[in-house]
Amino acid sequence: MTSAGLERTLIAVERAGADMFASTEAYDRHVGRYGAALSRAHITAADVRAGSRVLDVGCGPGALTQALAETVGPERVAAVDPSVSFVEACRRRVPGGDVRVGTAEELPNFGTRFDVVMSQLVVNFMSDAVAGVQAMRAVAQPGGLVTSCVWDYAEGMTMLRVFWDAALQLDPAAPDEGKTMRYCSEDALSELWEQSGLHSVETGELVVEASYDSFDDYWAPFPSGLGPSGAYCASLDPDRQDALRLECFRWLGEPSGSFALRARAWFVRGRV
Ligand SMILES: C[S@@+](CC[C@H](N)C(=O)[O-])C[C@H]1O[C@@H](n2cnc3c(N)ncnc32)[C@H](O)[C@@H]1O
Repeated sequence: MTSAGLERTLIAVERAGADMFASTEAYDRHVGRYGAALSRAHITAADVRAGSRVLDVGCGPGALTQALAETVGPERVAAVDPSVSFVEACRRRVPGGDVRVGTAEELPNFGTRFDVVMSQLVVNFMSDAVAGVQAMRAVAQPGGLVTSCVWDYAEGMTMLRVFWDAALQLDPAAPDEGKTMRYCSEDALSELWEQSGLHSVETGELVVEASYDSFDDYWAPFPSGLGPSGAYCASLDPDRQDALRLECFRWLGEPSGSFALRARAWFVRGRV
């Protein structure tokens, strides 16, 4: 990749935040495919119980918000995301929930405190993660929990790992999320939680799976520019994009039909 090309990619990747994830349909075929299973595992690890009031920060199109509504009832669920299109999708998914536009760093005033404040796959996209987690802590009840999970980009998130291993094979300067993401280990999450003033910090892993009808089903979301992997893919010219597509196919073992991929996320929780 030329230095101008790399610069374009990095600018696109740094455009993290609402814009990078704005297409709900592409999102649901990409990371969103793991959303329902990850949300269930996150809710169990966060020990969300019937009767709890919960806030989902960086809710995206609402996988976790919906699972929370099924657990505690929509009237006990609030959610926030900077992307207007995601907020609209989340409102459609969880009618009766209090879903608003905003960021973690500057949370809207929901007029209440929450028993559990959660963020799923979000801390790496906050412009100031310490400020974001501190704001999450500030809206939790004394004794309440603040939780999060992030993909194990470096190893256990197979869908993205395959993409970046294939990309690195063709372009050693490809911005591998296993290296560019700041919070992608239990230690990094634990440190962020302690730095943000949370106590009794615990970490663990959440392991889920998603299935694909075919290789095309796997590949389709990448050229749409969604997330850092999509931003990189969309920045390539058509020949390089084709080469990357073929390399991903090889890394996946040239599947001829349906297949499933495993994904590991690191989980953290701490008490106020
Ligand atoms: C990978 S998506 C995760 C969405 C959802 N939590 C899920 O599990 O599917 C990252 C989300 O973080 C949101 N986001 C980006 N910057 C944010 C910020 N500063 N505060 C809160 N959310 C943010 C994006 O709009 C996007 O919806």
